[in-house]
Amino acid sequence: MATMPGSSPLPRGATIEGALPDAGSAYDGHAALYDRLVASRIYNHLAWSADPVDYEGFARRAVTSASGPLLEVAAGTAIASAPAYRASDRPVVVTDRSRDMLTHAARRLADGGRVRPGVRFVQADAFDLPFAPGTFDTVLCLGFLHLVDDPLDLSRRLRRQLRPGGRLFFSSLVPATRVGSAYLTLLHRAGQVATPRTPNDLAQLFGTTVRRRGCMAYVELG
Ligand SMILES: C[S@@+](CC[C@H](N)C(=O)[O-])C[C@H]1O[C@@H](n2cnc3c(N)ncnc32)[C@H](O)[C@@H]1O
Repeated sequence: MATMPGSSPLPRGATIEGALPDAGSAYDGHAALYDRLVASRIYNHLAWSADPVDYEGFARRAVTSASGPLLEVAAGTAIASAPAYRASDRPVVVTDRSRDMLTHAARRLADGGRVRPGVRFVQADAFDLPFAPGTFDTVLCLGFLHLVDDPLDLSRRLRRQLRPGGRLFFSSLVPATRVGSAYLTLLHRAGQVATPRTPNDLAQLFGTTVRRRGCMAYVELG
């Protein structure tokens, strides 16, 4: 394992490229806890009436939608996308603001202690990505939209990363059940998420249909 100063060990074949001026994120140091929560079927069922199996299914849909380069934005620990990446040979760039989350993603994607060639990890801000426009066939952004104040600004920036004919896949928590709505409102009051947006709000914003299971909404944009 290669080690980097001040961070946990990375698997063989993995480096974390990029650096942010004010490197560090609210998620640094919380990746392991985050993983346990987000992977928990009980937590997802009780809080969001949703199932991590659906999150993985949506990631698989994005990964199998094309064969050229794929960009994942705010990927966290790649908990939902990792199974699809393991089953694919697409070039993949996994990005997040948090180096800690990316380190966990790299460890998750390591097979036999090594990450396959073609998978890169880049510490980057979703609103200021360090890639040339038109680089990717697919952009995947899971469970991040509900943190964002201006979803249209984000979608414009992410769509710029797409080649002609490329597709953008978003998922977002939405207030769709009594418990989920109350929880999202609490998180919003605590400054953890943006103003909650319903599936209808998202459909109107993006001018497209929105699928939903429990409190997780799924959007695909061409
Ligand atoms: C709720 S987690 C979602 C992680 C992952 N996509 C998932 O579905 O499990 C939000 C992630 O967004 C990252 N993040 C927050 N602000 C960001 C930004 N401006 N640019 C890139 N990543 C950001 C956090 O570090 C965290 O990993």
